[in-house]
Amino acid sequence: MKRFIEPNELARDSRFIRQDNNQATTLALLPDDVDKVVEMLEAFGPTIEQQVKGTAAEPLFDAYGPAFGLITLNQPLRPDDDAADTRLKLRMHGIFVGEIQALEGAGRSLWDFPDAPWEFKMNMARQCWDEARHVQTYEKLLEHVGGTVGMFPESTFLFDCACSDDPAMRVAGVNRSLEGLACDVFRDMIKWGEKTGDEVMRQAVDYVLADELTHVRFGSDWVKEFTKDDPERYKKAQEFRRQTDKQFSFGGARSAREDAAIPIAWEDRKDAGFTEEELQDLSDLGSEGPSRETMMEAARIMVERHRERRAKAAKEAAAGAGK
Ligand SMILES: [Fe+2]
Ligand SMILES: [Fe+2]
Repeated sequence: MKRFIEPNELARDSRFIRQDNNQATTLALLPDDVDKVVEMLEAFGPTIEQQVKGTAAEPLFDAYGPAFGLITLNQPLRPDDDAADTRLKLRMHGIFVGEIQALEGAGRSLWDFPDAPWEFKMNMARQCWDEARHVQTYEKLLEHVGGTVGMFPESTFLFDCACSDDPAMRVAGVNRSLEGLACDVFRDMIKWGEKTGDEVMRQAVDYVLADELTHVRFGSDWVKEFTKDDPERYKKAQEFRRQTDKQFSFGGARSAREDAAIPIAWEDRKDAGFTEEELQDLSDLGSEGPSRETMMEAARIMVERHRERRAKAAKEAAAGAGK
């Protein structure tokens, strides 16, 4: 039977639309330079436009052009924000598909390593059970905020970046990096629930976060266990996690900075086995990207260019119709 499924082989029904992962990788590599950010992201304009066609993100593209991702990722989610409603749905949808991929990741870890200790397999099976429940929870929360499954494209870059065929790297990437990111986002959603008085959101996400802490802990424990007699392999696992974390920092959107769209859940992560030193390192990683000012200035330029392009096309179409 086949092992190590490729991300493009993940099974989805016809409601789902797949997104190109290159954009997410590019976001992680952006420099703190307005012109370069504009240049790199404008290059994705036509691909982004095609991907959002027919999805709930199309109005966002119409309004902001290829910069809409910058706006949704780099501003903290606040109830009084103009596009708060769509952004909330976008975030819930992103978490929902992330949970599906977490289920697939944990299921793979159980299947891919037949020689791993029985306790490891039990932990991964327990995680599958939890993730299946999270998929259901977030499907309901998505509906709770007025969204539907498949309304936005799905990026599989979480699965793509975090899966390795070495079990030590796998748990470093999936359990410590991906599940750690889940802790940051979920802590932020609990705060959102408190801020907006949404008790359903606050309580549901609080339950899910409690599970995620145990998944990060599985990662913290098993990285140590798999590498206990091999310092070189431990170093490689740490490096793999750092690299994955860098990709998940979205150009500084997730960091310890005060202007971060997704703050690092410091205390939760400490509970789950992250050391103070690792957290400091994670925070520095996220701070390497462009500042929020750079991102917002780049977004402003891109929105302006998008509107000019649209106006020009409309003028040309009108002139053509008049002939
Ligand atoms: Fe989960
Ligand atoms: Fe999880």
